[in-house]
Amino acid sequence: MKILVVGNGGREHALAWKLKHDSAEPEIFCTPGNAGTAQLGTNLNYGATDLAGIGEWCLANRPDLVVIGPEAPLCAGLADVLEDAGIRVFGPCKAAAELEGSKQFAKEVMIAGGVPTSAYATFTDPELACAYIREHGAPIVVKADGLAAGKGVTVAETVGQAEAAIRDALEGSAFGDAGNRVVIEDFLEGEEASILALIDGEHVVMLASSQDHKRIFEKDRGPNTGGMGAYSPASVVTDAVWRKVKEEVYGRTLAELRKRGITYKGVLYAGLMIKDDQPSVVEFNCRFGDPETQAVLARWDGDMLPAIQAVIDGNLSDELVRWKAEHSVCVVMVAGGYPGDYEKGNEIENLDKANAVDDTIVFHAGTALDGGRVVTAGGRVLGITSLGSDLPDALAKAYIAVETISYKDAFYRNDIAHRELKRLGQ
Ligand code: GLY
Repeated sequence: MKILVVGNGGREHALAWKLKHDSAEPEIFCTPGNAGTAQLGTNLNYGATDLAGIGEWCLANRPDLVVIGPEAPLCAGLADVLEDAGIRVFGPCKAAAELEGSKQFAKEVMIAGGVPTSAYATFTDPELACAYIREHGAPIVVKADGLAAGKGVTVAETVGQAEAAIRDALEGSAFGDAGNRVVIEDFLEGEEASILALIDGEHVVMLASSQDHKRIFEKDRGPNTGGMGAYSPASVVTDAVWRKVKEEVYGRTLAELRKRGITYKGVLYAGLMIKDDQPSVVEFNCRFGDPETQAVLARWDGDMLPAIQAVIDGNLSDELVRWKAEHSVCVVMVAGGYPGDYEKGNEIENLDKANAVDDTIVFHAGTALDGGRVVTAGGRVLGITSLGSDLPDALAKAYIAVETISYKDAFYRNDIAHRELKRLGQ
């Protein structure tokens, strides 16, 4: 069996790793992949948004399954292209991926369907947008409508910050076409959590809860990043929150999409803000989260392939998904300077030693092979993921492995899971 994983991040290494260890023993291909996926199979040279190249490779090589990792190819319609060519593909069609591709569309669907989320307004005219901000005050959230590689969201603490974000997007083209329209949302208070759910068009199976840490510095300070670490499960997702997410978030969203003639198949990520056991949707993503996937898949008990196949075949059921009782944590190591400018090409040492730490896997993100060496090739470099009998045990193992690895200007947060540790009284 041949499986192609599209993408080159930590999420894709984790997906390829989980699929590689399936009892079906598939042959793994990744495009373009990284130095970690190269150890699991064959890396191809097509970029993740090279729809024509990936389509041609699939027609020539007939993979049994293609799993699409990132949002950009999904929003560009890669799933549609492959499905039209008769290739089995895991990932939503372009129309369904609009839940991530357009913040305005996601809000429209949520409000029409009665999904709990904050009030919002959209603007293309900077003067009207700034007038709205002055009327509403701060804190307030300004988002570029389209895909902005995780950089299009400003949580403005002052009216001035919000106005600057609006002018950057609408006048300064800071996000290109993605910022030609802004969505302004009311600020939500509470604690964030992530829930990923497999959806086969009809049935929803929610995966284990997790919590990401988006800011670059400890105590959640500094600019937003793609995620500096995650742990699973996140106890802020109580049984009551879980039930509400299933019914009020996934149930209502799918019902509203169905009314619009859109079938969702794949994974749908709900970024939630939770206050007093009431979840509100901050964002939808049409893909697995990164680094949540690394933490969540480490806890997946048994094969994942049957669940993926069931999503495609429309016969998904709860029995296909089981969790290990252990807790997991993923600590992201980045290049110094990220999320701003950073160096590439620095050799990464002691990866084998780190992988040898008990119950630990080093997932690669921005890495590449340079002769026999593994070197940094992106801002987010590695996701060190450990399982433990409890959260402190998982954290202890992950940080031993993190401290084993060295490369020039390596940076990571030392406080991953700090909210959960506080809840545990530690
Ligand atoms: N962890 C945030 C994201 O995947 O969008």
